[in-house]
Amino acid sequence: NSPFSGAAVLTDSYSSEVSELADIEWDNLGFGFIPTDYMYMMKCTQGGNFSKGELQRFGNIELNPSAGVLNYGQGLFEGLKAYRKENSNILLFRPEENALRMRLGAERMCMPAPTVEQFVEAVKETVLANKRWVPPPGKGSLYIRPLLMGSGAVLGVAPAPEYTFLIYVSPVGNYFKEGVAPINLIVEHELHRATPGGTGGVKTIGNYAAVLKAQSAAKAKGYSDVLYLDCVHKKYLEEVSSCNIFMVKGNVISTPAIKGTILPGITRKSIIDVAQNQGFQVEERLVPVDELLDADEVFCTGTAVVVSPVGSITYKGKRVSYGVDGFGAVSQQLYSVLTRLQMGFTEDKMNWTVEL
Ligand code: COI
Repeated sequence: NSPFSGAAVLTDSYSSEVSELADIEWDNLGFGFIPTDYMYMMKCTQGGNFSKGELQRFGNIELNPSAGVLNYGQGLFEGLKAYRKENSNILLFRPEENALRMRLGAERMCMPAPTVEQFVEAVKETVLANKRWVPPPGKGSLYIRPLLMGSGAVLGVAPAPEYTFLIYVSPVGNYFKEGVAPINLIVEHELHRATPGGTGGVKTIGNYAAVLKAQSAAKAKGYSDVLYLDCVHKKYLEEVSSCNIFMVKGNVISTPAIKGTILPGITRKSIIDVAQNQGFQVEERLVPVDELLDADEVFCTGTAVVVSPVGSITYKGKRVSYGVDGFGAVSQQLYSVLTRLQMGFTEDKMNWTVEL
């Protein structure tokens, strides 16, 4: 079965292209965009169903200036990764979870969405078509970015009449410029990323535009990123701009409960299972910011950041540090169990990986 079922015309160039690794500097990947060979596109009308998706050469797309996504932010994205195993096979991590999350987000944003099967099949086709861009083992991963957008023209505020589902990919290394070193966060207590009843719990593009102001200010002061508080009490932890947050105290690991303003991360969910399997007690609850003062370790989770240790947190001018310039033991343990599974070094008893 050709990975190009929808685009047989590309098969000749495909077979010669994927036979070897792309010619790039694999040792220095960061989290920046690198164009690859192909992207996946599928369209449908409002009230219709997605069908006839196909791979195309990667490149710019045409959009009506009046497209719903450009004018009113009717858009969602997803993020997942593919790793290359020693035998050169490719492993995806829980792609059906991304498909389900996109469907939930689409319902909130009044958009039609691909079925789980369509989504997963499209991811597989796109990764296989860009196989030469999947980094060698140990050098990083292929970041997969599915987008769903209102591409039809609107003028008044309304759902767009046409939708585009698109997937592009890019090889990536570590998300933060610190690499695997601990990051330094600042707690933001004036600006908020989400409100009750809003869209903080789905992966809509506007949630990420909303964090740029506080994030830029934090970076200008030398912090790695921003930790947000709830907007009602200005007291409980929510999440970091691009990832979820966890706190370790003894054998107990706490993380903010999912309650509509926090993104239900797939790495978050996986780390909760991994931690419980490793014998930790995990509490999903309201976590007051003050508890950070007393924590043994703090770490962030996300597809892009994986498990990132937090070296310090600054709140209202007071800085708390964790560990001695390195991963805390618990963060290290969880990182190791998760990534060894994602990269195919350990048996996948959870049935989370999909091998291509
Ligand atoms: C991901 O981890 O995939 C994300 O969505 C983070 C992204 C904003 C870089």
